[in-house]
Amino acid sequence: MNKTYISESIKYIGVDDRETDLFEGQYIIPNGVSYNSYVIFDEKIAVVDTVDKIAADKWVENLEKALNGKAPDYLVISHMEPDHASNVKLFAEKYPHAKLVGNAKTFAYMPQFFNLNVDDRKVVVKEGDTLELGQHTLTFIMAPMVHWPEVMVAYDSKDKVLFSADGFGKFGALDADEDWACEARRYYFNIVGKYGAQVQALLKKAAKLDIQTICPLHGPILNENLGYYIDKYDIWSSYRPEDKGIMIAYGSMHGNTKQAALELKTLLEEKGAQKVAVADLTRDDMAEAIEDAFRYDRLVVACPTYDGTLFPAVEDFLYHLKIKNYQSRKVALIENGTWAPMAGKKMKEYFEGMKNITLCDTVVTVKSTLNETSAEQLKALADELSDN
Ligand code: FEO
Repeated sequence: MNKTYISESIKYIGVDDRETDLFEGQYIIPNGVSYNSYVIFDEKIAVVDTVDKIAADKWVENLEKALNGKAPDYLVISHMEPDHASNVKLFAEKYPHAKLVGNAKTFAYMPQFFNLNVDDRKVVVKEGDTLELGQHTLTFIMAPMVHWPEVMVAYDSKDKVLFSADGFGKFGALDADEDWACEARRYYFNIVGKYGAQVQALLKKAAKLDIQTICPLHGPILNENLGYYIDKYDIWSSYRPEDKGIMIAYGSMHGNTKQAALELKTLLEEKGAQKVAVADLTRDDMAEAIEDAFRYDRLVVACPTYDGTLFPAVEDFLYHLKIKNYQSRKVALIENGTWAPMAGKKMKEYFEGMKNITLCDTVVTVKSTLNETSAEQLKALADELSDN
């Protein structure tokens, strides 16, 4: 099957974006991102979502080519976030007889984005409602907070396709040759990570459907080995560690906290640790550091004391963990300070506000540089954190 066809009657009309530097104004996307959009051809023609404004011209070209002179009857709006809904107004004006399909919240948010009156052409759906296209019937399932309140997914019972909105999406253009899980995980934890309970609720609803293809709004169409992807989402959204391993995240002003972090890595590896990931929080991608913190079962944070509190990059990391609902992990702390080390106390306060965090008994206090005492503390911490 041509890659632009999901089935004989469903066509991909999305666009790869390799221009945007930061997705959502904050996440690096070295391999771009795709904004997916689909057309279902039947007695009635439905377009499923539009794309980001940066991709408008290419999307219109794809849409017109797919329609080949026909006029669409519906635009299904799964999500009002501008990376998907930027071209709703353009569509509505281009096809004045087409109806717009959304839920009550979709139409509540729409005027906040567009000066567009759709009162006489809106189809307001709720949980379980259907849209008959002919042989295809779309059933709408509400998916609030995956990743905005108005998000809904649609299931096509003819071709057994789930249009999953942001769910099962990833960074990376469709022509990027890269591992699915790596960029799907970075996308998931940074964008949807806070809403694990809501993702779990959606997975429960989806489990009742016979799904053969998942069509997300970003990243590849999934039509093989769906259990793999669903299992990943189940692990991620239930906040279970995905892999056994230790993530060491550090900030360092003069290299001494870094030295302690790397010394711990060596000790852990000497003890047979299967995986030790390290992030320099001032230099490495913060989104990847967050991803790795969720991926592994143990986390070590190493932080200098700065202005009587936390080194800013480390505080930023902890803040991200907090708002993404970080939980259910074993955590260890390494602090550094020359005259009044405070970082350990401040880090502890962050973790005490998170669910099911087990703090290691050993707190390593480096006073400026590693010495015999702090080196012994590192060894004790390595014992406490080791795999066995
Ligand atoms: Fe891809 Fe929540 O937008």
